[in-house]
Amino acid sequence: MANKDQTDTDRMEKIVSLCKRKGFIFQSAEIYGGLNGCWDYGSLGAEVKRNLKDLWWRKNVQERDDILGLDGSILTHQAVLTASGHVGGFSDPMCDCLLTKARLRADQIEPQSGIAYHFTGASHEESEWSVDRDYSVLLNQPNQDENKARKTAREFYAQFLTDKQIPAKKLTLLGESTSEEKEVTHYNPENGSLLTEPRDFELMFKTQMGASADDHDPNATAYLRPETAQSIFVQYKNVMDSNRVKLPFGIAQIGKAFRNEINPRNFTFRSREFEQMEIEYFCRPEDGLRLTDEWLEKRLSFYDEIGLQKEKLHVLDIPDGERAHYSQKTYDIEYDFPFGQQELEGVAYRGDYDLGKHKEHSGKPLEYFDEQTKERFIPHVVEPSAGCDRTILALICEAFYEEDLTKEGGKQDIRTVMRFKPAIAPIKAAILPLLKNKPELVEKAREVKNLLQPFMNVFYDETAAIGRRYRRQDEVGTPFCIAIDFETMGLEEGKEDLKDTVTIRHRDSMEQERVAISDLLPWLLERIY
Ligand code: GAP
Repeated sequence: MANKDQTDTDRMEKIVSLCKRKGFIFQSAEIYGGLNGCWDYGSLGAEVKRNLKDLWWRKNVQERDDILGLDGSILTHQAVLTASGHVGGFSDPMCDCLLTKARLRADQIEPQSGIAYHFTGASHEESEWSVDRDYSVLLNQPNQDENKARKTAREFYAQFLTDKQIPAKKLTLLGESTSEEKEVTHYNPENGSLLTEPRDFELMFKTQMGASADDHDPNATAYLRPETAQSIFVQYKNVMDSNRVKLPFGIAQIGKAFRNEINPRNFTFRSREFEQMEIEYFCRPEDGLRLTDEWLEKRLSFYDEIGLQKEKLHVLDIPDGERAHYSQKTYDIEYDFPFGQQELEGVAYRGDYDLGKHKEHSGKPLEYFDEQTKERFIPHVVEPSAGCDRTILALICEAFYEEDLTKEGGKQDIRTVMRFKPAIAPIKAAILPLLKNKPELVEKAREVKNLLQPFMNVFYDETAAIGRRYRRQDEVGTPFCIAIDFETMGLEEGKEDLKDTVTIRHRDSMEQERVAISDLLPWLLERIY
């Protein structure tokens, strides 16, 4: 994508709608109006998520000798997050629209230029009501009707009317003046209204622990973890001692994290509850920068392997001054979502900051002792930190295709197909008897299903015409459809040699081939894992 901000709203709407219709992702508590920033994965979404996490775990833990797994608690001791700097420090600057009360991230407001209309108050002569309060509206388009600014200002002042029967348009505005504004960020881009001054908004969810905990007992405070990383740092010594590992080694974790995001948005992209897939890779200080580059390459090849196109992935080398103060190098891996180019993962060289802080706050020795050199030191750490839900969203966006298969002079025929890689696809194979009223076909199809089911997620469907069933499977991304037909039963004259074979229809090419039932399991296993 040439333009970082290029968006395709229409495509995104179709994806969100398919996710609900087919059971990939639903809004949490939808029947109660929805819980903002929280999402539930339906039957197909849960499969995709499991496939992604299994693959990540296999590649990063099971297939490596130098990385160990961890499954830490979500409830986190306040001392851990005080040491890490999250308590008191993990916040976003937030401001509110004075007109609509919408909450915005101050650092995400695009700078705007235009004419600002300032007012000192408003009055209503007949009721002798007035209010003294400064307010401004920015008109950011050339030749915009100045009455738009006055209308917005009247709506703002009408909030303070004691008599709510008085319409906003009857108010007289006071002290009008104008100024030219360049690249300012204190007006709401949606309606031009002035915003409040930015103030820090705590992003962590706090809770009270223990049956006797009263709401004001500071010792009972615990937090829902805002990242999985901290339990890795806190358990680093236990993992190291219990496994007798040597540097360099990593600890990997997949798990939930919680952030009270000011503006959850773009479907699951920015949620309040989400899953991370993080590795803390501990090393000698002199290896940190090199390993950061190596991890970046490894993570890019992982995305390639799961089916994200290389051209849609972008690496940002975060410049000095924009990185966290303890980081000497940070790469962001961004993806071209339909709502713009946005972050999937960060690969950061965090030095010895985290272990150093936990050593200082806990008073416990967290040094590593190198048997060979007899040195004792705090290891440095490289952190590839990926969002599981964001990766799933990227995979769904990548997979979504609409193909026009309309024949000349025929009815419009659009095929929706989710081109997931087989390893990611929620259903690996659909088993379809040609006709449901032929007991021998149904029985054979069930046999095939029983053969495959212990090894993969399969789906059995005998309803509707076979063409429609193929299309239904295309829409959820099933790579292989297995049809049990009369040839399978050896009932087609002249085609007796096809007995005990099935038709396999490929999702992407729609081509078909015949495979013997006895070869079916290895044939599929070779193609789906
Ligand atoms: N331990 C480092 C860390 O947590 P981060 O950049 O704040 O770094 C890492 O988060 C990844 O977690 C992000 O790249 C993103 O994929 C995911 N993530 C962060 N906040 C998220 C949110 N509100 N919703 C969904 N995913 C999020």
